[in-house]
Amino acid sequence: MDEFNWNFPTEIIYGTGRLNELGDIAKNYGKKVFLATYARIPVLAPLIDRTIEYLKDAGLEVVVFEKIEPNPRAHTIDEGVDLFTQSGCDSIVALGGGSVIDGAKYIAATAFSGGKSWDYVVLGDRKPREYTGAYPIVAIPTVSAAGSEVNAGGVLTNWETKEKSFSRSPYRIPKVAIIDPEVLATLPLSITKDSCVDIFSHQIERYLSDEDKSEFADRITEGLILLLKDSFHKIVNDPTDLETRGTLALCSIFSWQGIQGLGRMGTIPMHSIEMPLSAHYDMPHGHGMGIVIPAYLEYFADKLPHRWAKMARRCFGITAKDDLEAAKQLAPAVREWFKSVDSLWTLSGDGIGDEKFQEMAEDVMRMFGDLKKDRIASIIPTRVQDMVEIYKLAL
Ligand SMILES: [Fe+2]
Repeated sequence: MDEFNWNFPTEIIYGTGRLNELGDIAKNYGKKVFLATYARIPVLAPLIDRTIEYLKDAGLEVVVFEKIEPNPRAHTIDEGVDLFTQSGCDSIVALGGGSVIDGAKYIAATAFSGGKSWDYVVLGDRKPREYTGAYPIVAIPTVSAAGSEVNAGGVLTNWETKEKSFSRSPYRIPKVAIIDPEVLATLPLSITKDSCVDIFSHQIERYLSDEDKSEFADRITEGLILLLKDSFHKIVNDPTDLETRGTLALCSIFSWQGIQGLGRMGTIPMHSIEMPLSAHYDMPHGHGMGIVIPAYLEYFADKLPHRWAKMARRCFGITAKDDLEAAKQLAPAVREWFKSVDSLWTLSGDGIGDEKFQEMAEDVMRMFGDLKKDRIASIIPTRVQDMVEIYKLAL
């Protein structure tokens, strides 16, 4: 097992109906709250109004920013930073999915540290600017996917350059996450499906990245995958099942907060390969991951068969004794699972052809790899041509 440092600083407040504690919670962090959320759509309007009411009832001033998009855009976030600063806010409440919480993180830290939100993301050779701090964040997820409510990560899209990238900063880890299953049942089932697929992508990025360094991390991850599979079926059959909503919320939190990396810190660039899909076609991230995952698993099955086979046997009932044979059965098993929950997607199914494969693969290399060496550092070195082939398999 490799050395590691790990902590879990976010307080989780879990339970149906506990959104009504928001006022008392937010009072601990400031007097003038910046409420960051999505554009007001009918299905969300009552929830936004209730959130504002809880804050005001607690005597807090509220500045509402109802503008964050799925795949949050840097110029929108900068608008939020300006409003936050001009109105003298001192804390943020983020009400929404991973996009809103990520956006709120960029607002909280950029307003504190100065500059523009895009200054801080990873972008090729450029050294990202470093935050000096962040205003406190209370996160209220409406979607269980990215675990953004408890982690340091954040993804941002530059719509002008069609680039999507990320950064991590401990300053931006939310102080509190209110996990209310009733809130998580607000949005439509299609978003829940995207989210379940995204949770799976987080579970496997580290698991498939390295040799058997941490049986602890492997076993925790395998348990979470089995729980996700079970819960995905249940929620598709009954989207009002609040117990399963709660289970999925915990799957999401504990699948992207670092546990998968305890004792093995490697990763594979699967998320990077999805990013151009969101950036060019503005598709939901989880949907994009659903397109990329089976293709990635198929393409690289023979590169690290031992790890592929371990997951195939322990989580997907594959019994083949030979590692390579078991590894090759992982992608079909995952496709079958996605199909069983009506979540098997392809590029052609979305009307997307191969026009941009080369451009997207080069985008990924430029932002996250070494364009001259044609290599993204990973346990499986990845070239532009590999990514083009993966996009082809995703057609
Ligand atoms: Fe993700």
